[in-house]
Amino acid sequence: MNILITGGAGYIGTHTLVELNNAGYEFIVYDNLSNSSQASIKAVEKIINKDVIFQEGDIRDKEALKKLFSKYNIDSVIHFAGLKAVGESVSTPLEYYNNNVYGTLCLLEVMKEFDCKKIVFSSSATVYNEIDSKNYIPLTENNPIGNTTNPYGTSKFMVERVLKDLYISDNSFKIAILRYFNPVGAHESGLIGEDPSGIPNNLMPYISQVAVAKREYLNVFGDDYDTHDGTGVRDYIHVLDLADAHVKALNYLDLMANNNVPLIVNIGTGIGYSVLDIIKAYEKASNKKIPYKIVNRRLGDISKCYANPTYAKEILNWEAKRTLEQMCIDSWRWQKNNPNGYKKG
Ligand code: NAD
Ligand code: UFG
Repeated sequence: MNILITGGAGYIGTHTLVELNNAGYEFIVYDNLSNSSQASIKAVEKIINKDVIFQEGDIRDKEALKKLFSKYNIDSVIHFAGLKAVGESVSTPLEYYNNNVYGTLCLLEVMKEFDCKKIVFSSSATVYNEIDSKNYIPLTENNPIGNTTNPYGTSKFMVERVLKDLYISDNSFKIAILRYFNPVGAHESGLIGEDPSGIPNNLMPYISQVAVAKREYLNVFGDDYDTHDGTGVRDYIHVLDLADAHVKALNYLDLMANNNVPLIVNIGTGIGYSVLDIIKAYEKASNKKIPYKIVNRRLGDISKCYANPTYAKEILNWEAKRTLEQMCIDSWRWQKNNPNGYKKG
């Protein structure tokens, strides 16, 4: 029995391959390499000391998917493939809906055709609305969703709806929707990690490039939020803890009986750290000064966002284990050893 990992050459995908291998699962990676390269797969092979079956291709190419499903006995899918830059999605919404929504429809149609009915989907905390309201923090899974503020978030919300409707139409589908908070860190080998192209949008990759002297200083977007030090607060989760949640979700689906509504679960630590907290922790881990400037708030940002992770513990027996210190140490090791990511030189 094989698991198809769409987007498996990417940041979260590669770490999940390592955890799946540790848990004894067999998998096939399918990725169009639009935001990754095969170097990440080579690095995974080094870590797990085993070849990885990799097929380059797009989830929107149904014929290629059908070939894959015909060739391998695919029992379930972990679906990471998609575009993920919030700001970019505002300027190119059609690309985002095409990749993330239409792409998922293609995948689901082929899965149905081949009677493959187990899927774990990468959703995001961004689907929640009114998350700034004191009534809602920490966020539980039954918090209202859907009042999204950018096409990326809307695409995740739309796919959640598609999956719920698919289950209603055919309740032999077994579906897990994981709402990730802010994944950071890297595998402790320093061989795989986050490799953003161009200027990083997210905080930790930006800080790590400042630490390695690729960038001069960090812009801190606002210090007048209603938080303990005025800077934005988020729920940062080690990518290996997140990867482990996929293994647990898959186990759960394997044991799940038919007629079970989709599992929807927050994957976070439940702890909120501010931008200044992260800078401090990173300075300690890297033993480098992180110069920063306070600038205006970033459009669309909220003051705080962190999970109530109790349901994940209850239903999946999963909880995040790694500390912020570990996240920074592992991120720094990856950055220091690979200042240009997977690119040589
Ligand atoms: P990533 O960009 O590193 O990985 C995504 C992979 O999908 C890439 O390797 C890319 O080449 C591939 N891909 C994109 N479009 C494709 C297509 N049409 N067909 C085949 N492959 C395609 O991103 P990541 O951080 O690993 O994120 C994985 C998933 O988790 C995404 O769906 C993302 O939206 C979601 N997510 C990420 C975060 C985060 O902060 N990293 C937070 C919440 C949710
Ligand atoms: N920040 C800075 N400077 C930077 C980058 C970020 O001060 O250069 C601040 C932000 O204002 C925010 C915090 O650092 O307060 C975290 O920002 P990120 O961009 O790292 O993360 P977000 O919470 O904004 O968004 C991330 C992903 C989204 C996902 C969301 C919830 O980018 O895709 O988490 O899961 F939807």
